[in-house]
Amino acid sequence: MEIKISDLDHIRETAREFIDNMGNRKVFAFYGKMGAGKTTFIKAVCEELGVEDVITSPTFAIINEYSGKDDTIYHFDFYRIKKLEEVYDMGYEDYFYSGALCFIEWPELIEEVLPEDAVKVQIIEKEDGTRAVLF
Ligand SMILES: Nc1ncnc2c1ncn2[C@@H]1O[C@H](COP(=O)(O)OP(=O)(O)OP(=O)(O)O)[C@@H](O)[C@H]1O
Ligand SMILES: [Mg+2]
Repeated sequence: MEIKISDLDHIRETAREFIDNMGNRKVFAFYGKMGAGKTTFIKAVCEELGVEDVITSPTFAIINEYSGKDDTIYHFDFYRIKKLEEVYDMGYEDYFYSGALCFIEWPELIEEVLPEDAVKVQIIEKEDGTRAVLF
């Protein structure tokens, strides 16, 4: 399905629509160019799930953990991964198969270890600056 984000003022309702369509799925891989809006959208989804602590971009850490109202959420940014070995070393399986929600940026860099049932989400920036979330 496709959800449109007209602008940042409407991102929370878009996040809600996304959550309403997540079902029981846990691992979400967010594909999209640099600056497409992956972090911004994941942040809005986390806030909508009741995460209260300020969400810093995980740019300098591969993984951030948040507590939502009912869920533990792991937010990954694999942009800086150079070797798959680093992903093994961090014990990725303990997160991906934990039953907690996992939101992953730059999944293309760890495609080999992405769970088979991971939901592929694409974020596309249109020419007019609006975003489309496809999944
Ligand atoms: N839906 C949106 N509408 C308008 N601007 C947006 C939207 N989403 C993100 N932006 C803006 O685009 C910029 C980049 O967003 P963001 O950091 O979320 O991208 P990203 O996909 O996570 O990039 P990276 O690949 O570098 O991690 C930010 O300045 C943000 O405010
Ligand atoms: Mg980002």
